[in-house]
Amino acid sequence: MLIAVGSWRGSPGATTTALALAEAWPSEAKAFVAECDPRGGTLVTRFLMPGPRRLAVVAGHARRGGDLVLLDQHAAAVPSGARVLTGPEDGRQLRAALNALLVPAGVFEQAANDPGTALIADVGRIESDVPETKSLLLLADALVLVARPGPEQILSLAGAGEQARRLHPDTGLLLVGPGYPAEHVAELLRLPILGQLPLIPTGVAAGWERLACRDSFRKAAAQAGRAVVARLADEIPAPRTASRDVMAANASGGRAV
Ligand SMILES: Nc1ncnc2c1ncn2[C@@H]1O[C@H](COP(=O)(O)OP(=O)(O)OP(=O)(O)O)[C@@H](O)[C@H]1O
Ligand SMILES: [Mg+2]
Repeated sequence: MLIAVGSWRGSPGATTTALALAEAWPSEAKAFVAECDPRGGTLVTRFLMPGPRRLAVVAGHARRGGDLVLLDQHAAAVPSGARVLTGPEDGRQLRAALNALLVPAGVFEQAANDPGTALIADVGRIESDVPETKSLLLLADALVLVARPGPEQILSLAGAGEQARRLHPDTGLLLVGPGYPAEHVAELLRLPILGQLPLIPTGVAAGWERLACRDSFRKAAAQAGRAVVARLADEIPAPRTASRDVMAANASGGRAV
């Protein structure tokens, strides 16, 4: 399965949440985080992970016909335990890697159709005009929209529900930190709530990977993961294929999408 995790303007948390979900993934499936933010990856810097950017390595093999097993072979573990395919920090390089992975019957499509794999794709701040993100969302089983329900963020969230639903019909909300009641935010965005993650106190956020192991954070992440899995279980699974139109548009620079 392929689960996309995205954030909204003014509501950061996509990467942290993707890692938390992978660490607490509730099924037998092998969980991986893939850094698919078209602006570039951040985990190499965040966790000082020198060496090749794993998403680019997998893409290189995929161009020569490699398959799903590449994820297992090349994922690297971050200190909190999640297995990640680190993305190049440069957005153009990351998008080039994504294009190789999103080809029809390619690695991402295979991951989407494999119940033994949970590929959690951190797509960063969602925007409607990024062709690679659109292609990825066509394959995804669900989109988890990370939103902060605080008084400063609530206004900028107004358009988030509509935009997210347009990008993926099965979008659920994962609220990060305190703020308006979950039901209020769900009503405002007209999206179902998957769960709430506690906010790691400011000042120690950089060390979140240690805090993320704490019971409350882990429990909340596991609960959110279970909500995603339960929603997916309600659906009749059908094999997904990348849209040829979108792929063709990607190949021509994405203008026609
Ligand atoms: N649950 C959380 N509790 C506390 N801090 C959090 C939480 N989630 C994210 N943060 C903090 O918010 C900041 C941004 O988080 P993160 O990198 O996950 O967001 P993002 O949406 O991926 O941002 P970017 O656009 O930079 O990729 C980080 O400093 C992170 O530690
Ligand atoms: Mg991020």
